[in-house]
Amino acid sequence: MRAADHFAETYGRQPEGCWAAPGRVNVIGEYTDLNDGFVLPIAIPQVTVVAAARRGDRRLLVRSVQAGGTGELVDLDLASTEGPKGWAAYPLAVALSLLASGHPIDGADLLIESEVPIGAGLSSSAALECSVAVALCALFGIELSPMEIALIAQRAENDFVGVPCGIMDQAASMCCRPGYALFLDTRTLVPQQVPFDLPAAGLALIVIDTQVKHDLTGSAYAERRGSCLEAARLLGVPALRDVPADEADRALQRLAELGDDVVVRRARHVLSEQARVLEVVRRLEAGQPGTIGELLSASHRSLRDDFEVSSPELDAVVDVANAAGALGARLTGAGFGGSAIALVAADDVVAVETLVNEGLAEQGFGAAKCFTVVASAGAHELVPH
Ligand code: GLA
Repeated sequence: MRAADHFAETYGRQPEGCWAAPGRVNVIGEYTDLNDGFVLPIAIPQVTVVAAARRGDRRLLVRSVQAGGTGELVDLDLASTEGPKGWAAYPLAVALSLLASGHPIDGADLLIESEVPIGAGLSSSAALECSVAVALCALFGIELSPMEIALIAQRAENDFVGVPCGIMDQAASMCCRPGYALFLDTRTLVPQQVPFDLPAAGLALIVIDTQVKHDLTGSAYAERRGSCLEAARLLGVPALRDVPADEADRALQRLAELGDDVVVRRARHVLSEQARVLEVVRRLEAGQPGTIGELLSASHRSLRDDFEVSSPELDAVVDVANAAGALGARLTGAGFGGSAIALVAADDVVAVETLVNEGLAEQGFGAAKCFTVVASAGAHELVPH
């Protein structure tokens, strides 16, 4: 059933519209957004859809198909971060973020339906935040650019849900285009579209969901962020992105004199990842997507050894995918479980997927869910038919 039909069934009236926002995979540029650096995500075809209509009584009612139709009713004037927990905290946080940013919204009925896997590192949270944000903006005539909405959604997560995430996921969910990766300088927030039409090049990107859930509200993400800020402080720069590429080695030597080994390794990941993003963008713009695999695998090694955000399952997936003929593979997103991506020749998709699951079973890990993704559209209104 479509979200609009679920809405009509749930609320006994038609929605005023339906809005969709996608999950994402990050091609490369991991944890760089916590350092004002570069990221390169694509939107995936899986979206969260919000069917919505105004209520006119300053109350927000949110229900989710995935939560079996259960929901929460919140008075916008009394709402606080002490409100709903779990998934319902996200739509409420978006409403509070819009209000806190001076955008006058009123009450609404929302029906949420999502196909973005939860806890798989594919930004189901950003898809939920962005779909609710575009719905509320449309309902109440609030005119914001896609990047401004991404910032509202990030503020919702930072200030009202309490996760200190960067801007990558929300920017990807709002600003991506079909056939392109989003090259974003997370300091200037100027989005650039870089060709990423893998099928046209005879290639495919497989998402390998280890099905080991990751949860960003844990302390490890905040701890990584702290180490990056500490490294920048020790080097006397506003953020690690301010270390020029040709001074990276010298900066790491200085850090080794000033800081501990952990801070050096965290910074080494960020500085080397910055360089890898730029090289991947250069190759994509030169029409050579088939040559970026080695950089993806180097990114994984850096995340595994220096940034220490991988997991035994993710390492196994990446090793097996590479041994099975992938051109390169890496964990994507925050790590600690979740998903990896593998770049493969289109003809090798089935073989790599089969060998990955055989390899995981041999090593005593549970089965992974594999599916291919293409670079898809950012948030948009669904046209009724
Ligand atoms: C999560 C965060 C992003 C980013 C990644 C790691 O997805 O939401 O802002 O920091 O982790 O690259």
